[in-house]
Amino acid sequence: MAFEKNILCIGAGYVGGPTMAMVAAKCPRYRVVVVDIDKDKIKAWNSSHLPIFEPGLDELVHQTRGKNLFFSAEIEKNIQEAQIIFVSVNTPTKTFGQGAGRAADLQYWEKTARQILANSKDAKVVVEKSTLPVRTASAMERILNENHKHIRFEVVSNPEFLAEGTAIRDLEFPDRVLVGSRETPGGLKARKEVVEIFLNWVPGEKILESNIWSSELSKLVANAFLAQRVSSINSISALCEKTEADVDEVAGAIGMDSRIGPKFLKASVGFGGSCFKKDILNLVYICESYGLEKVARYWESVVEINEWQENRFVQNMLVNLFNTVAGKRIALFGFAFKADTGDTRESPAIYVAQGLLAEQAEVVITDPKALKNARRDLKNFKKGLTFEPDPYKAARNAHAVAVLTEWDVYKDLDYKRIFKSMIQPAFIFDGRNILDRKKLYDLGFNVFAVGKAPLKHF
Ligand SMILES: NC(=O)c1ccc[n+]([C@@H]2O[C@H](COP(=O)([O-])OP(=O)(O)OC[C@H]3O[C@@H](n4cnc5c(N)ncnc54)[C@H](O)[C@@H]3O)[C@@H](O)[C@H]2O)c1
Repeated sequence: MAFEKNILCIGAGYVGGPTMAMVAAKCPRYRVVVVDIDKDKIKAWNSSHLPIFEPGLDELVHQTRGKNLFFSAEIEKNIQEAQIIFVSVNTPTKTFGQGAGRAADLQYWEKTARQILANSKDAKVVVEKSTLPVRTASAMERILNENHKHIRFEVVSNPEFLAEGTAIRDLEFPDRVLVGSRETPGGLKARKEVVEIFLNWVPGEKILESNIWSSELSKLVANAFLAQRVSSINSISALCEKTEADVDEVAGAIGMDSRIGPKFLKASVGFGGSCFKKDILNLVYICESYGLEKVARYWESVVEINEWQENRFVQNMLVNLFNTVAGKRIALFGFAFKADTGDTRESPAIYVAQGLLAEQAEVVITDPKALKNARRDLKNFKKGLTFEPDPYKAARNAHAVAVLTEWDVYKDLDYKRIFKSMIQPAFIFDGRNILDRKKLYDLGFNVFAVGKAPLKHF
């Protein structure tokens, strides 16, 4: 069968894989190829064990793979054949040179752009799917278009707003799809081509068109606003603990104000994930580079509060465990940065585990999907660390349990059984406020939740 369009995505990660699986499922007339430099990852995408866990992803890939969705390590050939190329390579925080620790590291992006140029024989639309600093498109256009091949590339921005854990639902029923381009005839034509892809399943009124700089900046700002809400409620959680107010009650009361809204007001040990911190730091760096010091400091404080909250959680454990955790077994329930994903990038659990290990605790980590990544994250710690898939075994002989990921499975465990198997007095630190405190207290636990008065038996 001849396909109507050849779409390529460079980067088969958390964004590229699921996004293109959705495009393939919704557009059977398009041939969709996803490529990556990581050959093992491509092998995994072509196997029955996909490289990432995401609810609904297995089914979606199964439905489309080999029909109009293909995963390949052949980057050059696929560039040649594509008319539209999405680029969803990683854009981590720079770790070296100017802007280290803040600016986005665009080396992968630039390499991709040069690779597209080297392997193209005709005009193509290049779509920025990765999250990028505002005005990146201008550099990309220069790399792509200052060539001797007389080929014209149009750069379009189409940032991805999916959230891990709900990626498939977010892709199928997005709040909005944003497509930004230059407002030149060529830019508008390219924008239309990208919009047409999404019109296969997204209602037209949910597709926003904008100038390219607004589109690039909107993604950074969306993440900054989301993270800011978490830091705002987390800052209030500390005040609640001092005043016997309950942060969930406060969040409930303010969230019913339609101007505030109820979402993203859950106090916790802190936010994680590959994006929030990196994107805010990138925003901070951009503001600084334009001389907007006050704006930079304002957004930087969102990251600072998050780090403070993680540290506060560890300190609270330490103080309440009689100022020492050395030699004490402590079970961490959850290592993923949120429920329904195996992703541990920037997970607060990394910080908590490191803090406890530095105090010479015997840390046992359990998680339904993230143990492989947890092992990798903590590979430098040789002593005092165990990984245990079964939460009951993890808690056995422990002095304390700390809930660090809001997996549903932790809500319904037999805590009576867990209590009996632990060293007494037994402590539970609920870093996600998912457990029934009163019930746990009645079972005999000393219970510490975020932004709530502790329930102690002494
Ligand atoms: N993870 C999320 O929830 C999320 C959501 C929205 C936006 N984003 C953004 O999307 C981008 C990708 O994020 P991700 O989480 O999918 O990252 P990821 O690390 O999971 O995947 C990126 C992939 O790109 C590949 N890659 C790097 N250079 C390459 C090259 N030259 N050629 C081919 N492949 C190459 C890597 O091997 C990797 O598999 C980032 O900019 C991120 O900020 C991520």
